[in-house]
Amino acid sequence: MTRSDETEYGDKSSEPTNSVFQKLKGRIEGRKARIAVIGLGYVGLPLAVEFARSGFRVTGIDTEKAKIDKISSGISYVRDVPSGELQRQVRAGRLEATDDFSRLLEMDCVSICVPTPLRKTRDPDVSSIVSAARQIAKYLHRGELVVLESTTYPGTTDELILPMLQATGLKVGKDFFLGFSPERVDPGNKRFMTKNIPKVVGGVTPRCSDIAVALYRCSMSSVVPVSSTKVAEMVKLLENTFRSVNIGLVNEIALMCDKMKIDVWEVIEAAASKPFGFMPFYPGPGLGGHCIPIDPFYLSWKAKLSGFEARFIELAGQVNGSMPYHVVNKVGEALNSVRKSINGSKILLLGVAYKADVDDSRESPALDIYQILTGLGAEVSYCDPHIPEIRTDRFNIKAKPLTPDLLEKADCVVITTAHSAFDYRFIASKAKLVFDSRNALKGLKSSKIWRL
Ligand SMILES: NC(=O)c1ccc[n+]([C@@H]2O[C@H](COP(=O)([O-])OP(=O)(O)OC[C@H]3O[C@@H](n4cnc5c(N)ncnc54)[C@H](O)[C@@H]3O)[C@@H](O)[C@H]2O)c1
Repeated sequence: MTRSDETEYGDKSSEPTNSVFQKLKGRIEGRKARIAVIGLGYVGLPLAVEFARSGFRVTGIDTEKAKIDKISSGISYVRDVPSGELQRQVRAGRLEATDDFSRLLEMDCVSICVPTPLRKTRDPDVSSIVSAARQIAKYLHRGELVVLESTTYPGTTDELILPMLQATGLKVGKDFFLGFSPERVDPGNKRFMTKNIPKVVGGVTPRCSDIAVALYRCSMSSVVPVSSTKVAEMVKLLENTFRSVNIGLVNEIALMCDKMKIDVWEVIEAAASKPFGFMPFYPGPGLGGHCIPIDPFYLSWKAKLSGFEARFIELAGQVNGSMPYHVVNKVGEALNSVRKSINGSKILLLGVAYKADVDDSRESPALDIYQILTGLGAEVSYCDPHIPEIRTDRFNIKAKPLTPDLLEKADCVVITTAHSAFDYRFIASKAKLVFDSRNALKGLKSSKIWRL
């Protein structure tokens, strides 16, 4: 669907606006529009707060009661949202949270920020989107704007959500408006946050696009309109596939350098001195988080349905997925150099978050490394100042405090996440053997330090 087929829907090119459109636009521009954000996680909560900060009354809707209670008490559970800011918005009556979907009846605009994981077969699991869309359809009314923000395959808005909403008898572009705007937030990034990351927006029809652009212009520093929801969906997948493939490439270069006895970190640092045509990516123990290891497979799944094999995505997935095994092999080599085996060794993992200075361990490669090492008979423990406990369907473990005794007693310390809270000189001085998968010990030289 592109703008050229717009007459299939409610928009008529001869009729650029209608009264429903005008009324909603007026409510948005006057900050009178009521906004609902469905899904109050790492993406939804910062977005809800940003809308509230720009003067809207926002209702967050989530199925998790604990999150609703925390928001109502002004306690933030997302690191990028300070509790003080949350409290200000709650006290001013601009932000509230509920699990009652019937409140959608009061809303002018709805943003969907629910999770989009993969199934075990690596197929998209869009069940949360479907369930949210079902609730929206149940309470859909004239003059409402619905925007999907969850990362998903191109076509989700047009092919999955639109039919559910139009089944109510209301017509898109005329009675209600529908668009897609990818969330591009980078948890832990102090420079670029929800407000100042440019917001790409695509509507099902031109009016849908115009009204969604009007909404985001009120709250975001810059808005980038695109011609369709499919383009907007694809933008996000291109961005994350770009990262996955480049990390896959640099991981392969790291494996190559290991065989050729070349320091890959020094190579990247020197290559990054080129002022054009090169962008540094860094190797590591594997991909983690809720985006980069998952999103490209949404794209390859959809491409397969069109008879297209996304080879770069699959290859990067293989290389990146092999990195935890490479780390374990290198830990085995390091232990072997001091006449020890993985089996029976005490191994301490430093950092289980998927990246530095965040409290999110979803898809973290450290969890795979933990499981492979314990499977080989190692006695594995971990320290992470941001993640006191890990509960997965594979295992439940608690963090240990990082003490000199713990470091000295470990047969090998593995740096899996380069948190800035770790004192790396102290770690290097106390540990008997270190395997550094992040170059956190850059500049330190010792025969007991092994690097990726
Ligand atoms: N985390 C990131 O860094 C990031 C960045 C950009 C985009 N995204 C994308 O944004 C989306 C949300 O990710 P997230 O990290 O915020 O997830 P999250 O798991 O932190 O939060 C999702 C929230 O949605 C709630 N939820 C689930 N199903 C629901 C339903 N049917 N109705 C109401 N609430 C429901 C959950 O209880 C949870 O609070 C995903 O598509 C993700 O890929 C995430």
